[in-house]
Amino acid sequence: MSTAKKEYKRVTVKSLVDMKATGEKISMLTAYDYTMAKIVDGAGVDVILVGDSASNVMAGHETTLPITLDQMIYHASSVIRAVYRALVVVDLPFGSYQSDPKEALRSAIRIMKESGAHSVKLEGGKEIKDSIKRIINAGIPVMGHLGLTPQSIYKFGTYTVRAKEEQEAKQLIEDAKMLEKVGCFAIVLEKIPAKLAKQVADSVRIPIIGIGAGGDVDGQVLVLHDMIGMTHEFNPRFLRRYLNLYEEMTSAISQYVGDVKSLDFPNDNEQY
Ligand code: KIV
Repeated sequence: MSTAKKEYKRVTVKSLVDMKATGEKISMLTAYDYTMAKIVDGAGVDVILVGDSASNVMAGHETTLPITLDQMIYHASSVIRAVYRALVVVDLPFGSYQSDPKEALRSAIRIMKESGAHSVKLEGGKEIKDSIKRIINAGIPVMGHLGLTPQSIYKFGTYTVRAKEEQEAKQLIEDAKMLEKVGCFAIVLEKIPAKLAKQVADSVRIPIIGIGAGGDVDGQVLVLHDMIGMTHEFNPRFLRRYLNLYEEMTSAISQYVGDVKSLDFPNDNEQY
C-alpha cells in the first residue's frame, strides 16, 4: 500500500452519522471523472456524489432522464480510481429502480460490483420504500433524496422550490422519517424552504445534506461544475460560484488559438 493511502482516514457512512452527532458539517460535491475526483478528494471533501447530473453536465442533455446505468457505472468507476478518502455515493439513474424492488436491487448491485462505489442514492419517498429496504437488506448503504427530485421533472413541470404547501411539507417530513426508519444513512434535501429543512434535520438522527435548503442542515452539496463556474447559464439563488472557470478557460483557449495562428507557439524551448 502506498504512503499516500495510509495518510487518509476513509469517510464511512458511520463517520457521517457521527459528524451530525458532534455538529461537524458535512461537505459534499459531485464528480464524474478521474481527474476532477482526484482534486475534490485531495481538497478534503467528505462525500463525492457521482450524480445523474452527469446527464446535464457531461452529456449536455436537458434533463437527468437519459443517462443509463452503464453510463453511471462508467463515471463511477473513473471516480473510484481517484478517491482515497471520501465516501463515494452513486445515483441510481431514472428507469433503473422505479419498476420494482428486484430491479432496484439488481441495479444497485451492478453499481457496487462493477464500479467499486461505496453506496447508492435514490430519489423519492414512500413510493420507493420497498426498493430501498431491499437494497439495504443486501448490505448496500442508501442515501435518500427528497424535495426537488429532478428525475420527476415532467411530473412537477418546473424546477421551482418544492414543499411550500403544507400538505407537501407534511409528506416530506413523513418521508424523511420513513427513510431513517428503513435504514438510509443520510438524505439529500433539494430546493425546499430553509425552515422546513431545519425541521427535517431536527426530526431525524441521520444527516440531512442540503442543496438550496438553507444552512440549518447537517451538510451541503453542490454540483462541482457549477461551483467552479465551468457552467455559466445555470444561476439559481443557492449557488455560490468560487471560480469563474468558464471565462478563464475561454480566455486561455483563445490565447492558445492566437499563439498557434501567429506562430508564437511552439517556441524554440517547446520543441526537440
Ligand atoms: O445528480 C446530482 O448532482 C444530485 C445533486 C443535485 C444532489 O442529485
